[in-house]
Amino acid sequence: MRTDPSDGYLPAIEAALRNALPVGDDPAHQLNAALRYAALSGGKRLRPAIVCATSASLGGTIEDALPAAVAIELMHAYSLVHDDLPAMDDDDLRRGQPSCHIAFDEATAILVGDSLQALAFETLAAATDIAAATRVRMVRLLAEAAGWRGMAGGQAFDMAATAAPALPLEALRRLHAAKTGALFRAAVQFGALCAAPNIDAARFHALTCFGETLGTAFQITDDVLDATQSTAALGKRAGADMAKGKNTYPALLGVAASRALAAKTLAEALRILQDIGCADSPLGELAQGTVHRAS
Ligand code: IPE
Ligand code: IPE
Ligand code: MG
Ligand code: MG
Ligand code: MG
Repeated sequence: MRTDPSDGYLPAIEAALRNALPVGDDPAHQLNAALRYAALSGGKRLRPAIVCATSASLGGTIEDALPAAVAIELMHAYSLVHDDLPAMDDDDLRRGQPSCHIAFDEATAILVGDSLQALAFETLAAATDIAAATRVRMVRLLAEAAGWRGMAGGQAFDMAATAAPALPLEALRRLHAAKTGALFRAAVQFGALCAAPNIDAARFHALTCFGETLGTAFQITDDVLDATQSTAALGKRAGADMAKGKNTYPALLGVAASRALAAKTLAEALRILQDIGCADSPLGELAQGTVHRAS
């Protein structure tokens, strides 16, 4: 059985994430409790593990990468809370427990998303071990990944394409690259900049393409798992994509061809790593797990 290389990073990631979140509760509202609920209850922590693995693969330390890893996971946790809202996917189960808006209420869930996004930028801006110019670069990369060109734009595309005619394959790839690939891209970029702030442009570009391609493979697999796994295994409602009429790879190509495409997209990503001499690295190992997974 393969050992998941991200396992080694998880305790440090969990501790750093917990440290970034508010400790006490405001007696006037439940926002702080809801923030901890959304960010600390489960999740594979794949994006922060990618930050750490990229840093390790380029000669950096896990400690150097932790604030950036936390920033990415906070951004991701926000995206999940908003993704589950009734106005979006209307999902009541996340990470094996009631979605944030069910456990609390809709207004709180919206504010949790707002606060997690703000906290992601705050965490990055406060990481004074990273040189100021590099931090500014990372803030910009995170904004591009999370905003209209990236995750939020991809989510808008996803919503517009729901219960609508099937998208052509190329458009679906763009959708997945934006809604999910962009944060994976930022995770790899962050790991690279933590380890090697002066990394040369060609290598950085290759890692950027690797991250986005890996994220696309990850989202194709997410679509396949929705169509093939149980609710218990996923910790979210299985079969929800088809029920909503989502534009997904299994809906367009069927499950077998989607699995094959996920494997092909992963191979595309790994080839990029090979070209820059990083195939045999913690990052290469971790990349395999984005497609070969059960939840
Ligand atoms: C779910 O991401 C949302 C997608 C982009 C497919 P993950 O599968 O990484 O969710 P957690 O963090 O493990 O819960
Ligand atoms: C969500 O994609 C991607 C995000 C940006 C959150 P999905 O809607 O497929 O994610 P799940 O399946 O609900 O986790
Ligand atoms: Mg969605
Ligand atoms: Mg969803
Ligand atoms: Mg999904």
